[in-house]
Amino acid sequence: MSFPLKFTYSNCLDSAVGGEGISRSALDARQCADAVRAFRGRVDAGEIGFPDLPDERSTASAIAEFASDLRDELDYVCVVGIGGSALGAYALDVAMRGPHPVQTSSRDGKPNGKGRGARPQLVVLDNVDPGFIAAALERMNPKRTAVVVIAKSGSTAESLATFLIVRQWLMAALGKRNRERIIAVTDPKKGDLLAIAKQEKYALFFVPPNVGGRYSVFCPVGLVPAALIGLDIAKLLRGAKDANGVCWSEKLDQNPALTAAAVHHALDTRRGKKIEVVYAYSSYLWGAAFWYRQLWAESLGKRVNRNGEVVETGQTPVAALGVTDQHSQSQLYMEGPRDKMITFWEVEKPRAELKIPKEFSQLDSFGYLGGKTLGQLFHAELVATEAAFTQAGRPNCRWTLPRVDEYTIGALFQTLEFQTAFAGELYGVDAFDQPGVELSKKLTYGLLGRKGYEEYAKKMKK
Ligand code: PA5
Repeated sequence: MSFPLKFTYSNCLDSAVGGEGISRSALDARQCADAVRAFRGRVDAGEIGFPDLPDERSTASAIAEFASDLRDELDYVCVVGIGGSALGAYALDVAMRGPHPVQTSSRDGKPNGKGRGARPQLVVLDNVDPGFIAAALERMNPKRTAVVVIAKSGSTAESLATFLIVRQWLMAALGKRNRERIIAVTDPKKGDLLAIAKQEKYALFFVPPNVGGRYSVFCPVGLVPAALIGLDIAKLLRGAKDANGVCWSEKLDQNPALTAAAVHHALDTRRGKKIEVVYAYSSYLWGAAFWYRQLWAESLGKRVNRNGEVVETGQTPVAALGVTDQHSQSQLYMEGPRDKMITFWEVEKPRAELKIPKEFSQLDSFGYLGGKTLGQLFHAELVATEAAFTQAGRPNCRWTLPRVDEYTIGALFQTLEFQTAFAGELYGVDAFDQPGVELSKKLTYGLLGRKGYEEYAKKMKK
């Protein structure tokens, strides 16, 4: 099977958008090949692990088996985690089960997923807004909930505080049996979550030490929740593996991740496109847009480059939903500051199709719609918006997926991770650390009196 994703960027060229665009020669083939080689070096040295995840078959089988034993006892899978420890599961859930207000909840179509073949609902507790957590706990039935607590560091304040509250809620309903419903995902060697999980004998899965939070969707961080809600994780990994097949090519015309990285980098550094608007034309990709936003922002937003020089680099990613945001944000993107590039995410085949009834055809506003499908309207809106941006001299590119399923989502996420890694090489920054995030974690610890963080407490008082 040929690779399912297509990246097109002709509307980023000066031939399409004039002076705001780049020429093909701005994509430097040698610099791009060097980027692939440099990144490959880090992977071969064992420093970076996400490209190897699709080959971790034994972990995936163990997760699938574990999940199939537990799933029928559940109505809810409650993920307690934040950032890279939550967004992957959320994005997979939205992609496969739909945006939250209209989620399908069972394989056999029964409401609430009760009975055999049921697929529990995912509830992600990332924010520590007390009202949100209280409302979620009120809604879920603790007797039919599995809690997946995820923290690579084993110490993130938000996740551990929420976990203690959720654990107490489970204990009140299940007593000592609460342990059977808690699954921990953390580092294999260190951290307080690991210590607790061992002490309490929770089911335990590990985040490989060389896989960072935002690159962890294909390790237990994303796969445990995905398997528990009934997604086909083998198919996800097949998509990711097929992405590896193209993303290691050093040839720009054969590697969409590399081409996309080069286009983004050139538009930012040569044309000042400091903002990337990711325009997802699918409600099923709305979670993916939020997942990508973290990946791109946290990986490339860096104060210093790898030589230690101050560069303050990175493109700001913005998530937009097509067509909804045509009536909200597009005016700004089209006529406001020329600091943006647009990336459309197109899905060729929608999840379902609906025919627009031929009614009130004597009236102009209805007449042309009747008999067409909603998918035709959806697609026309994308094509028209793309054309409008192009005519307004706003560079735009497009990722096309044939459909949204586990296979194409696996391919998309892995490709975008490669794109980000290559962009890191082109910008000369480390796309795998997050010193800014770490600093705010430490200052929070200091503020709340955690032992060992007294220095940070003093900094807050100044
Ligand atoms: O991508 C990252 O590394 C971060 O967003 C982390 O995932 C996030 O800070 C949560 O960290 P942890 O898994 O240690 O709780």
